[in-house]
Amino acid sequence: MSTAVAPKGLEGIVATTSSICYIDGDAGVLSYRGIDIHELAANSNFEETTYLLWNGRLPTSEELSAFSAELAAARTLPPAVVNLLKSVPSSATPMEVLRTAVSLLSLYDPDEEDSSHAANLRKAFRLTAQISMIVAIFDRIRKEKDVVEADSGLSHAGNFLWMLNGEKPSVTATRAFDIALILHADHELNASTFAARVIAATLSDMHSAITGAIGALKGPLHGGANEATMRLLFAIDESGEDPVEHVRRMFAARQKISGFGHRVYHTEDPRATHLRRMSEELGMAAGNTKWFDMSRKIEQFVKAEKKLNANVDFYSASTYTTLGIDIDLFTPIFAVSRIAGWAAHVMEQHDDNRLIRPRADYTGPTYPSAYVDMEDRRPGESGSSETA
Ligand SMILES: CC(C)(COP(=O)(O)OP(=O)(O)OC[C@H]1O[C@@H](n2cnc3c(N)ncnc32)[C@H](O)[C@@H]1OP(=O)(O)O)[C@@H](O)C(=O)NCCC(=O)NCCS
Repeated sequence: MSTAVAPKGLEGIVATTSSICYIDGDAGVLSYRGIDIHELAANSNFEETTYLLWNGRLPTSEELSAFSAELAAARTLPPAVVNLLKSVPSSATPMEVLRTAVSLLSLYDPDEEDSSHAANLRKAFRLTAQISMIVAIFDRIRKEKDVVEADSGLSHAGNFLWMLNGEKPSVTATRAFDIALILHADHELNASTFAARVIAATLSDMHSAITGAIGALKGPLHGGANEATMRLLFAIDESGEDPVEHVRRMFAARQKISGFGHRVYHTEDPRATHLRRMSEELGMAAGNTKWFDMSRKIEQFVKAEKKLNANVDFYSASTYTTLGIDIDLFTPIFAVSRIAGWAAHVMEQHDDNRLIRPRADYTGPTYPSAYVDMEDRRPGESGSSETA
């Protein structure tokens, strides 16, 4: 091929135009539709932020009420999906179950065949409500607890905690969770959103795109990093070892520390700033800052030793643990929020579509290589080294 090969992992490649999310990785800026994430974290809620992502502007008070009511009204699941949640093998992880359940949802979605903007918007409401319900209901089922009915009087954040725990959440817990949802709602062309856009660009439907996105989010280099961070904190706590010494040994063994580093940010991930504060405040309110203290020591050491900054996943681990959320729900909870961004990107892709189909720089056996007859092939020989 004559064109230059893109850097490995497409680092630094601008693959599309988008009006949804602006990031300046050098300055540590993240904004949705131009509004800084710090302002949204301080003043907004998940519903308003989702309206912003889907509609390109902040809602009026009436628009926000109508939007929130529509999201709350979408809190229903087809019985077949609840049955799936009851019948998966006990080894199934919440993330695997979420991926499978979202795929199943498409069979019952009234707009499945329709990828018009209006139909996509209706699907976005349903998927946003349903993903949160699937995560909460599956956790209840696997713990052999009664499924909790959705409460249309609660916010998206509050209803999730209610359906998960079966207790009305405190104002502090609801606000902390709401901020976490705002912070995770979108992040430009991260791996799962890119996966969603590639799928949508074939003119496949929103459920297929979101199912693929969940698969991408699951990996430990992406959304799975928050779970890996907490597993590290638990392991250090159990071993009784000094956190800094533990991480020093990991560095010596050339292991990566989950929750650090970022492809785009070369300074502090602006989301980590809020999650660090939330982790500390929630720990103090709960009278247990163990996870925050351990995280802080690790962060200071990693920064000093490797110049790596904590990313969104590092302090979300201790934040969620302090909120009493199980470790294997961390990545599904990422999806509970990121569906807002995924849906916005699928709509943007469908509204102005072109198939995404890049090229590869071929590095295989020389073309043309011989097709070797079966009787002439030898074990271990590729049969393709002779050129015709
Ligand atoms: C996020 C991440 C995948 C970005 O990857 P990337 O842009 O491809 O960067 P690389 O993995 O090539 O890392 C560049 C260098 O920094 C080091 N590095 C990056 N993240 C590191 C980490 N978390 N711990 C230790 N070293 C790390 C790499 O080992 C590499 O060093 P080298 O050049 O000496 O080999 C990477 O930082 C990572 O794996 N982090 C841990 C997982 C994580 O937290 N993911 C969530 C991201 S929001």
